[in-house]
Amino acid sequence: CGIIGSVGRGSETLDVLVDGLTNLEYRGYDSAGVAVSGESLSVCKRSGELDVLKGALQPWSLTGNAGIGHTRWSTHGPPTDENAHPHMDCTGDIAVVHNGIIENYESLREELEAAGHEFASETDTEVVPHLIEAIQAGGASFETAFRQAVSRLEGSYAVAAVREGSDTVFAARNDSPLVLGVDDTATYLGSDVPAFLEHTDRVVYLEDGEVAELTPDGWTVTTLAGVAVDKEVNTVDWESEDTGKSGYEHFMLKEIHEQPQALRQCLQERVDELSGRVDLGDDIANAVRNAGSIQLVACGTSYHAALYAAELFRSQGVPAQAFVASEYVTSPPPHSEDTLVVGITQSGETADTLSALRDAQRRGVETLAVTNVVGSTAARECEGVLYIRSGPEIGVAATKTFSAQVVAVNLIAAVLGNGDTKHEFVSALRDLPGQVQQVLDETNAEAVARQFVDSDAFFFIGRGYDYPVALEGALKMKEISYEHAEGFAAGELKHGPLALVTGNTPVFAVVTGETGSEKTVGNVKEVEARNAPVVAVTDGRTDVERYADEVLEVPAADPRLGPVLANVQLQLVSYHVAKQLARSIDKPRNLAKSVTVE
Ligand code: G6P
Repeated sequence: CGIIGSVGRGSETLDVLVDGLTNLEYRGYDSAGVAVSGESLSVCKRSGELDVLKGALQPWSLTGNAGIGHTRWSTHGPPTDENAHPHMDCTGDIAVVHNGIIENYESLREELEAAGHEFASETDTEVVPHLIEAIQAGGASFETAFRQAVSRLEGSYAVAAVREGSDTVFAARNDSPLVLGVDDTATYLGSDVPAFLEHTDRVVYLEDGEVAELTPDGWTVTTLAGVAVDKEVNTVDWESEDTGKSGYEHFMLKEIHEQPQALRQCLQERVDELSGRVDLGDDIANAVRNAGSIQLVACGTSYHAALYAAELFRSQGVPAQAFVASEYVTSPPPHSEDTLVVGITQSGETADTLSALRDAQRRGVETLAVTNVVGSTAARECEGVLYIRSGPEIGVAATKTFSAQVVAVNLIAAVLGNGDTKHEFVSALRDLPGQVQQVLDETNAEAVARQFVDSDAFFFIGRGYDYPVALEGALKMKEISYEHAEGFAAGELKHGPLALVTGNTPVFAVVTGETGSEKTVGNVKEVEARNAPVVAVTDGRTDVERYADEVLEVPAADPRLGPVLANVQLQLVSYHVAKQLARSIDKPRNLAKSVTVE
C-alpha cells in the first residue's frame, strides 16, 4: 500500500494528494482514497484503479490545508469501496490511512464493538479511528488520543490521521516505511520518497516508535511518549522519473530487494514463535488435513514453486504431484474423493491455471488458491485461499513472489502436520528474511554475470528441493536475457544433456542442504571433467567449492529454506547478465506478466 500526506498547500492539497497517489500506484492498485481536512473533513474513496477515484472526486467538496491519501493492496478484506482507505470513526470527524498489518485488531475490534462502536469495513485499519475516538471521548486531545491509540497497536504499521477542524496530520510507524518531505512552506508524508519528490528533495526518515506532527508551521518528530527527537534532514539525489522504482534502475531489482519484507509479511500473524504453531485459519486447516492426496497446478515460476511444494508434501507422507496447468486440463489425472487441488498463481488470473482449477471443480474436487492478489479470480473461485502477501510485483519476471510462494507452502505443510512445527523450524523461518538480506548485501552475482555473459548457453542443475530452483534459475535467465538456458535434475544431466556441455557453457550447480548434496557434487565432477566452467551456489555443507570456478555463497539454513537463498543469487545473476546485454528487463519481449489466454 502507499500513503501520501500534505500540510500547508492550501487549495492545492487535493492535487498534491492525487499526484502522490499516482506516483505510488505501483505499491498497490486495487483501491484508493483521500481525506482533506479544513473546517470540515471530507473523504472520497473507491475500489478499482486510481482513475476510478479520480473520476469520482468533486474538488469543491475536498478543500482544506491538510490531507492524507492511500492506495491499497488488500490484506484484510477484498477490494471494495468500504474497505478502501481512509477509514473513519463513528462520528465521521477522524480519518486514518494505514499500511501493514495490525495483528491484534480482532481483540481491539471486539473491545470497541462492546463499547458501542459500529464498523463499516472488514479491515484491520478501521480499529484505529475508532480507538482515537474512544480515547478522545474520555477528554484527551487529538494528539494524546493518537499517541495512546498507536501505542495499543501490535504488528506492522505506517499510520496517518487527520481530524475535522484541524490542519494537523499525525503519523507514526512500526516496521513499515514512512518518510517526511520538508520545505519552507509545506510538509509532506509518504510511504516512499517518490510520493512527493516533485515538491521537495529534502527528507526526514521516521524510525519505528516515532510520531510526526505536520502543521502549517512545520514539523516535529517525537517518541510515542512525547520526547522530542533531533532528526537529520537528508537531501535525496533522485530525479522524479525514478518514481515507482524507489531509486532502483528496474522494478525487478527493486522486487528482488523487497524479498526480506515480502517474507516477513507472509509469516506475520501466522506463526507463533512461542508455541511453534502455524495458524492459517480453520478453512485451510480443514482442507489440507482432510486431503488424502494433493495435486498442484501452476504455470511458469509458480509451477516451480508447485514442484517444490509437491516434494515437501510428499516428505510428510501425503501423495502430491505438480502439474503444468495446461497439461492438467489436457489430460486430467485420476482423483479420489479426498483429493485437494492447489493452484499456485501470483496474479490469480492466469487462464491456464484457472482452467485447471475449474476443471477440478467440475469433477467435484475441492480447490485451494495460493495467490498474491486479493480478490483475484482464483481467490474468488476456489473454496479456500492463502495469500502470499508480497505486495505488487510489476516486473514481468517473478522474483519476490516465488520466495513467498515457497514460504507459504511451508506454512501449509506445517498445517498438514497439525500446525505443530519444531521450534528449530520456526526459528529457521524467522531467520530467513535476514538471511535473504545477507545474500543481497554480500552477493558477488554481478561479477559472476560479467565473467560469463558471453557464454553459448547457461545450464543449471540441482537435486531434491534444489531441483525446482535449477529450473527457476534457467527460466529467469531465458526470460530476461534471451540467452539459451536449461535446468536439469542433477542426476539426469549424464543421461543426455551432458552432450551439450562445453568449455563455453557454464553450469550453475545448486548445492544446499545435506540430502543428496554429495551426489550433486559427483555430477559437478562429471561437468568439470568436460572442461565446463562450474558456478557453485552453495551453503558450504559440501566440498563442491573444490570443483567450482566460481562460488555464490549462501548462509546455511534449514534444508527446506536454503533453496530460497540460492534462488536469490540466481535471480541476481540473470538480472546482471540481462543488464549487461541491455535487455528490456522489466518487460521482456514476447512475455506478459499475466497471461489470460489458454
Ligand atoms: C506468465 C509470466 C510468468 C509467470 C506465469 C504464471 O507466463 O510471464 O512470469 O510465472 O505467467 O503467472 P501466475 O500469475 O499464475 O503466477
